[in-house]
Amino acid sequence: MDPSTAFTFHPIGIVRSPYAATREIPKGLGAEHHAEGTIEIFPEYEAGLLDIEGFSHLYVLWVFDRAGALPQTWVGTPPADDRPHGVFATRSPRRPNPLALTVVAPRP
Ligand SMILES: C[S@@+](CC[C@H](N)C(=O)[O-])C[C@H]1O[C@@H](n2cnc3c(N)ncnc32)[C@H](O)[C@@H]1O
Repeated sequence: MDPSTAFTFHPIGIVRSPYAATREIPKGLGAEHHAEGTIEIFPEYEAGLLDIEGFSHLYVLWVFDRAGALPQTWVGTPPADDRPHGVFATRSPRRPNPLALTVVAPRP
């Protein structure tokens, strides 16, 4: 594939969490994530939600919209470590493409 190929995505909804700033989010080894958030799917995609309630968990692909300027290097030291790692060996939000994946359990 031509490495200059770009893909264009458009949002299908908005993810909201109780956190107003990224520093409030539990970080590091053993961090637990029990906060409840919401996902608002835009009305034009509502039909695509048919039968989604049958699943125990959902994979949510989202965008790090506040990742800021990308670093000049793809190596960094995670908050819970004392040595650098390549970005693909971490969960750093500063990625070549700011795409994130989270597994969520819908509220019953
Ligand atoms: C460690 S990453 C892992 C996310 C996901 N599990 C993944 O690896 O794709 C999550 C961190 O990204 C940061 N973050 C959360 N929402 C963000 C946003 N909208 N823009 C930029 N950074 C964000 C927070 O610091 C949070 O602790």
